[in-house]
Amino acid sequence: MNNFKLKKNDLFVEDISIKKLAGKFATPFYCYSSNAIINKFKKFESPFRNSDTIICYAVKANPNIAILKILSNLGAGAEVVSVGELRRALKAGIKAKKIVFSGVGKKFSEIKFAIEKNILQINIESIEELELITKIAKNLRKKVQIGIRINPNIDAKTHTKISTGREEDKFGLNIETAKKIFLNYRSNPNLDIVGLSVHIGSQIMSLSPFKKAFLKIKNFIKKINKNEKIIKFLDLGGGIGINYKDEKIINFNSYAKIISDISNDLGCKLILEPGRILVAESGILVTRVLFIKKNKKKTFAIIDTGMNDLLRPALYDAYHDIQSIKKGIGRKSLYTIVGPICETADTFAKNKLLNRLNTGEILFFKNVGAYGASMSSSYNSRPIIMELIIHKKNFSIIRTEDTVLNQISREKIPSWVSKIK
Ligand SMILES: Cc1ncc(COP(=O)(O)O)c(C=O)c1O
Repeated sequence: MNNFKLKKNDLFVEDISIKKLAGKFATPFYCYSSNAIINKFKKFESPFRNSDTIICYAVKANPNIAILKILSNLGAGAEVVSVGELRRALKAGIKAKKIVFSGVGKKFSEIKFAIEKNILQINIESIEELELITKIAKNLRKKVQIGIRINPNIDAKTHTKISTGREEDKFGLNIETAKKIFLNYRSNPNLDIVGLSVHIGSQIMSLSPFKKAFLKIKNFIKKINKNEKIIKFLDLGGGIGINYKDEKIINFNSYAKIISDISNDLGCKLILEPGRILVAESGILVTRVLFIKKNKKKTFAIIDTGMNDLLRPALYDAYHDIQSIKKGIGRKSLYTIVGPICETADTFAKNKLLNRLNTGEILFFKNVGAYGASMSSSYNSRPIIMELIIHKKNFSIIRTEDTVLNQISREKIPSWVSKIK
């Protein structure tokens, strides 16, 4: 079902009019379709339903507690990369035994909290991290389940800034180091090293890099498990891309097939960590045109949302389609769509052909449910914006807009400053 429909000079998200919402609430705001999330999760999960698999949603894609709760109700676990994400996942009711903790730079306090909460697994990314976990676990008299994140040296053929599986990337450990870890740490009474994990990047559009990476891991598991079943958990990460602009996406059944082909004779429990694919298409960013400005080269449409609300275009040159909710008539024009932030990087589209835009007109960005709100900031002292979710005929605010007063209230002027002349 298509949860976003343009009709009668309006956009409907499920049964709710965006024109009405934009009349009620100040723009910009994020707006999600709950059905889009529910349907995508069910579709993704379906080929894995009869296998021993935990779908650990990558919280970084969109950490809103309401979205976590929806996914938790559908049976998802969580993949987290900070204690903040871990707290959110627990608060949303995700069982600790369905949570894996990844990331190259976990702090002492974060590791301690994760161990105290008895989460399923900590995926380690360095020997120093493993040493620290050992110490903390010993002090707490706990045995911690460990996964070793492998860097398979595979190029995911995605944007370089979201490639994570090449040797030059900071993520994971090579197979030689992983072997040493098994030799040197396996008998440690505070560690239960039973997992391997791999995540080679995000917005991956072809199965081939997955296949190559998974095969490397499979061969390694076969060696390690030759005489004794040491590896019991195989975490294959996330990374499936979505269609932002005329891109052909990976078929879930084909993805599931390569996973079953590599894993069916290993007897491991599977963990998958999808993020973007579950939520990206569920979200739009609603904005208004502030001004139209022409110079000799361009016509700018200056809108009321900026790179602080949606960073992906500035950070990765990422494409997000932008449309008006109005059905266009008459001549089209080329617009460069920019935000109000004092950076030239605050550009969302160059020379985009759109129906004639007017000041105050409502536009929306598509496919911003993942890495949209989650990457937002208050740069230029712009408050973090509101998030709404729609469920059929109802809408709910799932994050209120921050305020500048709130931001300022956390800042302090030391007394000595007043003496400066
Ligand atoms: C370890 C790990 N797992 C899963 C994900 C989710 O990736 P995606 O949103 O592309 O599915 C990420 C994202 O970078 C990650 O770092």
